[in-house]
Amino acid sequence: MALGRVLALALLCHGVISGPAGVALSAQRKLHGRFLHITDIHPDAYYKVHSSTDEDGACHRGKGPAGPYGAETTDCDSPFSLVNATFDWIAANLRDTIDFVVWTGDSARHDGDERLPRDADQVLGTNTWIADKFADLFANAEGKGLTIPVVPTLGNNDILPHNILLPGPNKWLKHYSHIWRHFIPEEQRHSFEFGGWFDVEVIPDKLAVFSLNTLYFFDRNAGVDGCANPQEPGYKQMEWLRVQLQFLRERGMKAILIGHVPPARTESKKLWDETCWQKYSLWMHQFRDVVVAGLYGHMNIDHFLIHDKDEIDIAALSGSSELGARVAMEDELSVMSASDYLVELRNRWSKLTPPPGKRGEVAKDGKRKKGKKVKDPWGERYHLSLVSPSVVPNYFPTLRVLEYNITGLEDAPVWKGALTGVSRAVADEEASSQKHLELRDLSGETDVDDTTLTKKKKKKNKKPKKTPPHDPELHIPEPPSKSSPPGPAYSPQPLTLTGYTQYFANLTRINNLSLTDLSTSTSARPAVITFNEQDAGESGSEDRRGGWRDWLLRWRSGKHGGKKPASPHPPRPREFAFEVEYSTFDDRVYRLDDLTVNSFVDLAVRIGERVGAKGAEVGSSSEDEEEEEDEDEDDDQESDVESDGDVETEKKKKKAKKGGKKGSKKRKLNKTWLHFLRHAFVGTLEEDELKKLY
Ligand SMILES: *[C@@H]1O[C@H](CO)[C@@H](O)[C@H](O)[C@H]1NC(C)=O
Ligand SMILES: *[C@@H]1O[C@H](CO)[C@@H](O)[C@H](O)[C@H]1NC(C)=O
Ligand SMILES: *[C@@H]1O[C@H](CO)[C@@H](O)[C@H](O)[C@H]1NC(C)=O
Ligand SMILES: *[C@@H]1O[C@H](CO)[C@@H](O)[C@H](O)[C@H]1NC(C)=O
Ligand SMILES: *[C@@H]1O[C@H](CO)[C@@H](O)[C@H](O)[C@H]1NC(C)=O
Repeated sequence: MALGRVLALALLCHGVISGPAGVALSAQRKLHGRFLHITDIHPDAYYKVHSSTDEDGACHRGKGPAGPYGAETTDCDSPFSLVNATFDWIAANLRDTIDFVVWTGDSARHDGDERLPRDADQVLGTNTWIADKFADLFANAEGKGLTIPVVPTLGNNDILPHNILLPGPNKWLKHYSHIWRHFIPEEQRHSFEFGGWFDVEVIPDKLAVFSLNTLYFFDRNAGVDGCANPQEPGYKQMEWLRVQLQFLRERGMKAILIGHVPPARTESKKLWDETCWQKYSLWMHQFRDVVVAGLYGHMNIDHFLIHDKDEIDIAALSGSSELGARVAMEDELSVMSASDYLVELRNRWSKLTPPPGKRGEVAKDGKRKKGKKVKDPWGERYHLSLVSPSVVPNYFPTLRVLEYNITGLEDAPVWKGALTGVSRAVADEEASSQKHLELRDLSGETDVDDTTLTKKKKKKNKKPKKTPPHDPELHIPEPPSKSSPPGPAYSPQPLTLTGYTQYFANLTRINNLSLTDLSTSTSARPAVITFNEQDAGESGSEDRRGGWRDWLLRWRSGKHGGKKPASPHPPRPREFAFEVEYSTFDDRVYRLDDLTVNSFVDLAVRIGERVGAKGAEVGSSSEDEEEEEDEDEDDDQESDVESDGDVETEKKKKKAKKGGKKGSKKRKLNKTWLHFLRHAFVGTLEEDELKKLY
């Protein structure tokens, strides 16, 4: 433990020693129905203000436009000033109104600078720093524990070499069991060193957050091999997840799953090993009554994934199926490949059937309204992953605050610093004695062989399985009982996610840089063609936009790339603050009533909608007439952005509408898609840039 931390805690203790009042206060904490998702902070101790943002400079050296709070739209990492300012902002604006934090990894800089290779001290050092910042931010009055739970998870850059984590126990997991000692429940610290996964009852007896170690699912981790072989940590993690989710089901609890690398998988690209993806999808389908949502980071673009049970291939789980030829995705996506990836998602979404509820066929209680029989009224064939963009300003720095339904939970007992207090320890003992044993069993201790494990588990699963699996080791989880209502991911109920607010810090404004173009002599590096290098010498010209399509190289030197500070004086930034980028509660294009599967399927259908080609007559569409009407009224904020240069078409379309034709739809071509793309890149791209992306 760093001395500084001890001192900080001692000071904190001292400050609040005023008597038992503080203690009483913390005991009365109530739920707010909100939590923070923060991801991909990437602090970089070498970041230098006014250094170059190109690949050679990497915001570490040279003269260039690296701003005081970070270099937005570049591949540079975060200066400490951004990390401090982010935590200060959370302290001032969120700390006292959230119930827990999910922190989905990558709290070390990238290994992107050949001249400054990373070492273990740096990777663990920034991770320790951030972990201690959370511990300080949420330190309780006694100074020994936290007021609310913080649930971290390992990112692919939190280890060395990045992406490669060998099966546990290993020194990395040992280090993190110490660094995260405030966050991992005590009784799980031992098993954590074997697998790097754990769970926290963020609302005791109601809601648990499962921190998945996605590095054992990650296709680029050459140190492990998927989830089909019982020896593999991925397999063991899935077994742990299966057993724990069943345990939650029996206790009537729900789960939020979090991880760093999302289970992204499109026609051509994938992030997880196929066997892990298959098993995860199967688990999510079988436990659809338990799982509230899956929350992920890593990709830095704001988007979501809809997984379909029809893609589950049991044969693939034993590795005996011909798996689709998908290539592993790059660690970080350039804007171009990100847009290819998003286009693939869109193509898939364009084939989805709109949920029945949205079309008025199904009443709120899931029963059909009139005559027609509705198949799968809640969209239970799907499950969702929500991917939050990053703090590291690949675009702009962001934070996500999710809200969930706490009806009936207003007075529920809350989590109380799991690490202290005898009563909590006793409660834990009772609640998790069984859980504890399972964890030990599954943690891969060398003296437990897998055949014993399998036998033990078989005894427990008394019910016969419907589908005899290929792999005798495969235990298909039980589905929800026939009588149980749809889970919180499907129908609005307590613990259902109701929406989120995406915050961003506009570094372009905050950094307040004063820049000039570099002279050509100093920028003679044609090898590093990036979108923004076009800025050098030709800023403002139309040509610059064409740069998108030719832009093949990975490193992005950002919107100010190729510029240098106009004066040698340090920049004078404006006051740092996050502001609302958008909120699903009032986003009038997204129109998400809540974050249930049906709401996202409905949104995905609208994003996927392609109502005819340019200028073509508009044919039938899957969109509701009713919704069209809604949208017409909602054009206030969107139209000024969307219509620039398009005024004539707008007028024509309006006319067509008045004529009583369905022409109004033309006007909305790609509207939801553009809106989605704008969010994906956290508002950093102008409308014309977005349109060039597809
Ligand atoms: C960030 O905050 C820490 C204290 O938590 C301080 O020591 C450090 O100097 C700050 N760094 C910057 C760049 O503001
Ligand atoms: C929250 O859940 C309650 C109980 O199921 C329900 O009546 C209410 O409509 C839900 N609230 C929202 C905003 O979905
Ligand atoms: C960020 O600030 C810049 C400069 O003030 C402004 O031009 C831009 O529109 C802002 N971006 C967003 C998304 O608000
Ligand atoms: C922004 O930068 C200019 C030029 O460096 C400076 O004069 C101005 O005071 C700065 N704005 C703020 C709010 O600090
Ligand atoms: C809408 O998107 C499609 C493909 O994504 C594109 O071909 C078409 O030109 C776009 N239409 C408009 C009006 O931008």
